[in-house]
Amino acid sequence: MRKSDPKTHWNKVYLKKEVESLGWYEEKPQPSIELIKKSGIGKDALLLNVGAGATTLVDELVEQGYNNIIANDISHESLDKLKIRLGENKSKSINWVVDDLTNPQKLNDLGQIDLWHDRAVLHFFTEKHEQETYFKLIDKLVKKGGYVIIAVFNLNGATKCSGLPVVRYNEKAISSCLGDEFKLIEAFDHTYIMPSGDTREYIYTLYKRN
Ligand SMILES: C[S@@+](CC[C@H](N)C(=O)[O-])C[C@H]1O[C@@H](n2cnc3c(N)ncnc32)[C@H](O)[C@@H]1O
Repeated sequence: MRKSDPKTHWNKVYLKKEVESLGWYEEKPQPSIELIKKSGIGKDALLLNVGAGATTLVDELVEQGYNNIIANDISHESLDKLKIRLGENKSKSINWVVDDLTNPQKLNDLGQIDLWHDRAVLHFFTEKHEQETYFKLIDKLVKKGGYVIIAVFNLNGATKCSGLPVVRYNEKAISSCLGDEFKLIEAFDHTYIMPSGDTREYIYTLYKRN
């Protein structure tokens, strides 16, 4: 069976459901905040949040004074929800990039970034060419001395999310995809509690590029 078009899939998901009831909604994105703090990047650092959806991480970062944020997603509906929640003033301070990580156009032109953040996006890329394009983009965009945070389902994680199959990772697999230039700084497992009360097992990783 052919995979349905991901843009259509994700736009429908965000149109159909309240953000707070999504199976990845976080009231407070604590593990991500922890790793961003740990990286030690400054408040002016260029931070790219890929597959941001309607994440509260953006609100939190703006609140904490980070002022150079790019929010990307394949779904404009998700980013529109985030813009509305942030309000006009805060949303004007964000660079919004609707683009597909597995077929990047505008993302290719961003120039060098200080930090790449992905929570719950990479694991949807089940095809080898999608994964290769994703890691090539990291290689292109993350500057030397920059950071990569990847949080995905770990080996005990679910095999599906949002009705889609996922690839599960451990630290070794993520490291091998990133290559030798990226040194692991920290990795931990995290049990996320969904709005429904169910749990999902994630691995969070922070890398620094040599
Ligand atoms: C499970 S949600 C996670 C959203 C957000 N990172 C969070 O933690 O709340 C996955 C997100 O990845 C986005 N996405 C899926 N495929 C994508 C692609 N090829 N390029 C960019 N974003 C994509 C979806 O639209 C969705 O917002």
